[in-house]
Amino acid sequence: MQLFIFKSNYDFIKVKNRDEKSLYYIYNCFLEMSTKVSNKGKGGNSFSKFYTTVFGEERWDTLLDALKKPTRHCLIINKFSQATPTGIDFGNWLDENCPKAQPEPEEVKKRYTKSDWLSTNWPEHALGPITTKSKGDQLAFPAPSVTEDNLLSHYLLDAASLLPVIALDIQPSDHILDLCAAPGGKSVMIGQVLFKNTSSGEAQNRGSLHSNEHNRSRYDRLKGVMASYFGSPGALNRPPIRISNLDGTMYGHFGTFQYDKILIDAPCSSERHLVHHSSEMRQWTPRQSVMNSQRQLKLLLSAIILVKPGGRIVYATCALTPEENDGVIGSLLARRGDVVVKVPFSPPCTDEAWGSPTKHGWMCLPDNSAGWGPIYLTILEKVSPVQSDSE
Ligand SMILES: C[S@@+](CC[C@H](N)C(=O)[O-])C[C@H]1O[C@@H](n2cnc3c(N)ncnc32)[C@H](O)[C@@H]1O
Repeated sequence: MQLFIFKSNYDFIKVKNRDEKSLYYIYNCFLEMSTKVSNKGKGGNSFSKFYTTVFGEERWDTLLDALKKPTRHCLIINKFSQATPTGIDFGNWLDENCPKAQPEPEEVKKRYTKSDWLSTNWPEHALGPITTKSKGDQLAFPAPSVTEDNLLSHYLLDAASLLPVIALDIQPSDHILDLCAAPGGKSVMIGQVLFKNTSSGEAQNRGSLHSNEHNRSRYDRLKGVMASYFGSPGALNRPPIRISNLDGTMYGHFGTFQYDKILIDAPCSSERHLVHHSSEMRQWTPRQSVMNSQRQLKLLLSAIILVKPGGRIVYATCALTPEENDGVIGSLLARRGDVVVKVPFSPPCTDEAWGSPTKHGWMCLPDNSAGWGPIYLTILEKVSPVQSDSE
């Protein structure tokens, strides 16, 4: 059987020889048609009204101010480049690799040493925090540069993005799936923690990483990013990384490999991004959260099939709406008896605040975490089937 369904204005789906999958698609189409985005309450004013209802007036004012600030970055040194040492002498490293660094390496060295904020929970080669230079004359890390071995020197990211990676509790033999991976920040971090740099004489890697992205152009970008940090596919010493272009909501229904850990960094409302992009803000409607939460639940249901019994799923978003965070997890728990929430999540112990617990997870918001976030995360475990005495 071959079935073609026009799922939305821009998404044409082809399903071959799989009755079960076809029915699943038909179900999804009806679901999406029944929740067509309404234009009611569109744009910036409605946005603020909506989030005032969620957070209360006073908190929303403070949170909105924090969201408007430029993203604050930490820096992760690429341990796969021979040119970047893992033992951090960052001042010297900047001197050699980023001669045009602003501020002067000496200043960075004086202000930020590893002991400032890193604890053993963070990837060893992470350094921070520093605010980016996107507005005004704030202190900035240099942009990544290409090293002698054709890899990028370092990665800059909001340190709250490391929280879901830490929550994976990565072990050297883990087979990990990053289900929504582009542009690749968290996949790069997972690789930095999971893999050994075999070109420096370390033993072979036992674990593997599968990074997946559904959107075609973002998938191409993901491939480029992973090649820039770990080498091109087929290159000597490239760690075992697979990159695919699959619909994560469907992968569970045909995938056969069972992963130890799965990260779902789900597509979501991304309010901080909207606050900085007025044209996208004008398109905002409260219905988007409802649509997102339906897709997020599908991603979770798919991941549950793909994770080993006893394995771990970390679900994360950068959304503010409870619907896309605890709400999705609540719906999942109501549907699946074989999944439990693993609490508590322990953020790395540093001098900075890294958020607080929610009903089912953990929330890091920029107004209470020195500018990092937003990030919501929860850790789920697939319960092993109970063996009955007669078996
Ligand atoms: C929040 S972003 C991921 C960011 C990424 N983890 C990082 O750290 O760089 C969510 C991604 O999910 C992708 N996506 C959306 N629907 C998807 C689906 N059904 N399956 C897989 N990926 C999907 C989006 O295109 C987007 O790139």
